[in-house]
Amino acid sequence: MNKSYQNIVILTGAGISAESGLATFRGANGLWNNYNVQDVASVEGFARNPTLVHQFYNELRPEILKAKPNAAHLAITKLQKEYAANVSIITQNVDTLHEQAGNENVYHIHGQFDQYVCLNCGHIFHNLNDITPQTPCPYCLVKGRLKPNIVFFGENLLYMDKVETLLETCDLFLSIGTSGTVFPAANFVQIAKKNKAETYEFTLEETSNNFFFDHHIYGKAGETFPDFVLELLKRT
Ligand code: APR
Repeated sequence: MNKSYQNIVILTGAGISAESGLATFRGANGLWNNYNVQDVASVEGFARNPTLVHQFYNELRPEILKAKPNAAHLAITKLQKEYAANVSIITQNVDTLHEQAGNENVYHIHGQFDQYVCLNCGHIFHNLNDITPQTPCPYCLVKGRLKPNIVFFGENLLYMDKVETLLETCDLFLSIGTSGTVFPAANFVQIAKKNKAETYEFTLEETSNNFFFDHHIYGKAGETFPDFVLELLKRT
């Protein structure tokens, strides 16, 4: 960290929400230890058993609603407010803790837990109620066509044009709380690196794509990232 930066991109994963009490996907108590990801987060699984998938997200929703932003989310707000650079957040998380912490320029490439989409009329709407395969769409009233607006394995990510532009123009790429195991998000650091960005990862342990990071800061993001932001602000 030896210069001022103009365009900062922050990629976040489940690890940034861990200290807010939300389960990550892999590692100890990971969600995918207790559920088969193909059953509850894939296009085929949803077609095979929509009741199971709706039940999974109905059970996840109250957990997510209980969670509050932690010091890592708040440090991003501090960075956006006090550091003279464009700071954008690409998040793999479907929780809205970034927004609740006051983060701006947040792109949910895997969708959001509080949105549903009607596969009949295409409407995307805010929803916090339990959904079943019998729940009618509030717009076209057709039943059995509602899907969580969450990107399942087998679907395209959201905001990818914007992501491409952000990665091609960033000079500082910060990855917080992601294992770097799911593509294309795991590839973003390589694109940033190709464009000469300095790259940091903040995680608990070595990740699958750690080779591409210039710096590795191991520890809880709620502790390591606020320190990093203070350090960065000292240098302005
Ligand atoms: N502080 C920092 N990092 C943490 C913390 C913490 N308190 N707790 C966990 N981590 C790190 C772990 O070390 C791990 O590297 O967060 C990462 C969590 O990895 P995953 O559970 O694989 O979550 P993520 O990388 O976000 O998964 C990516 O996989 O199934 C899909 O769509 C799902 O968006 C998800 C994607």
